Amino acid sequence: MVVTAAWHLPMLRFVLPLTQQPSPSPAVYRARRQRIAERIGEGAALILHGGQSRIRSNDTEHRFRPDSNFHYLSGLSEPGAVLVVRPGRDPEFALFVRPRDPQAEIWSGRRIGPEQARAVYGADAAWPIGELAAQLPRLLDGCATVHLPFAAYEALDRQVFAAIDHLRRRNRYGDVAPERLEDARALLGEDRIIKDAGALGSLRRAVDISARGHLAALRACRPGLYEHELEALLEYHFRRLGSSGPGYGSIVGTGDNATILHYVDNCCRLEEGHLVLIDAGAEWDYFTGDITRTFPVSGRFTPAQRDLYAIVLAANEAGIREAQVGSTVDSIYHVCLRTLCQGLRDLGLVDGDLDGILEDEARYIGYTRHRHSHWLGADVHDAGHYCFHREPRPLQPGMVLTIEPGLYIAADDERAPAELRGTGIRIEDDVLIQAAGPEVLTHLVPKGIDELEAIVGSEA
Ligand code: GLY
Ligand code: MN
Ligand code: MN
Repeated sequence: MVVTAAWHLPMLRFVLPLTQQPSPSPAVYRARRQRIAERIGEGAALILHGGQSRIRSNDTEHRFRPDSNFHYLSGLSEPGAVLVVRPGRDPEFALFVRPRDPQAEIWSGRRIGPEQARAVYGADAAWPIGELAAQLPRLLDGCATVHLPFAAYEALDRQVFAAIDHLRRRNRYGDVAPERLEDARALLGEDRIIKDAGALGSLRRAVDISARGHLAALRACRPGLYEHELEALLEYHFRRLGSSGPGYGSIVGTGDNATILHYVDNCCRLEEGHLVLIDAGAEWDYFTGDITRTFPVSGRFTPAQRDLYAIVLAANEAGIREAQVGSTVDSIYHVCLRTLCQGLRDLGLVDGDLDGILEDEARYIGYTRHRHSHWLGADVHDAGHYCFHREPRPLQPGMVLTIEPGLYIAADDERAPAELRGTGIRIEDDVLIQAAGPEVLTHLVPKGIDELEAIVGSEA
């Protein structure tokens, strides 16, 4: 049959839909596999599962979201896949994927199949996933160490142990079974913690989209709206701009809902005189932003709200100044905490001298509640060690973390002025550590009191 260009092009698009192309580019994933190969060295194998579809209810599923480590090394976002990396051996990069199945694809979407796993995702060898059990002994034969994510995918664990057992029993025929297991999560975490150019590009885009959602919510906010309307607006902008959606459940809490750290009900009405706290971030290439802003529903802080807000803002800014190469997440926490506790003392919510307060967590933790930073990347609480040998690790260029101090005053806190009871304020920025000083990736979203008052409700 003669294939004309006009016929061929649409078919090509069917076979390689844009949504299933690796993004940012295959070279980024190849470079990551190369780095990992150098870390584990010849004689080792890395095995990762890409994740499975999850049932939401009865026979409907959540939208698939790949395992972060798997996607980080392959660029592939398809349920039921497994990758194997074997430095210096052939095949060095193997993929197991669902086989093509026209009937199944009519119902639940396109599959790449082994052929495209090789052609598009750069696998040296690829098989249908059903062949994993048969191929694993051959792929692991002679590998001294297997890197596997501990306690992540039980079915994969069983298949790997079955393959190791098979090789052990065949030792008298010359097979060599792996004798060491290492946790692939630690391995991948240490690579992910320093953002490469691809990761930083994806993260900047995720943060930029997140910021646009926050700006839209700030502009649209007015009394009488419901929390879920702001949530819908945020997520509308995330999806409109091509994000796969929020990187975690969007938090939109007004009044004392803002004192619930992971409040996601988002069902209440926004009342004049209240504050609203929005903690939301969009994903891009499976990297996520993580931004929190707190602002007055009506666009004007009351004097008491303003005083409380100014303390949290000062803590956020002090934390950002502390985010220098060589500093630590702990020292950022302590700088933020000192500012918060000084403020609590000034407001008369805690007594005593500042150092005495700081030495006694029980005196302030009810107001401050959480730590103030976490790594940010493919996961909102991203991979990578926070400490080694119980010592906090020094910050290095290329790390990205959040700085998110908050103050929370319970609705029944009789010590607090009546108008502040049931108030939560958190300000969260995403910060890139650089030799030249911290870069605030989230700078597009205002947080100064005057800037917030100018923007809130400006398009309501
Ligand atoms: N949005 C969750 C967090 O800020 O840690
Ligand atoms: Mn956070
Ligand atoms: Mn957050």
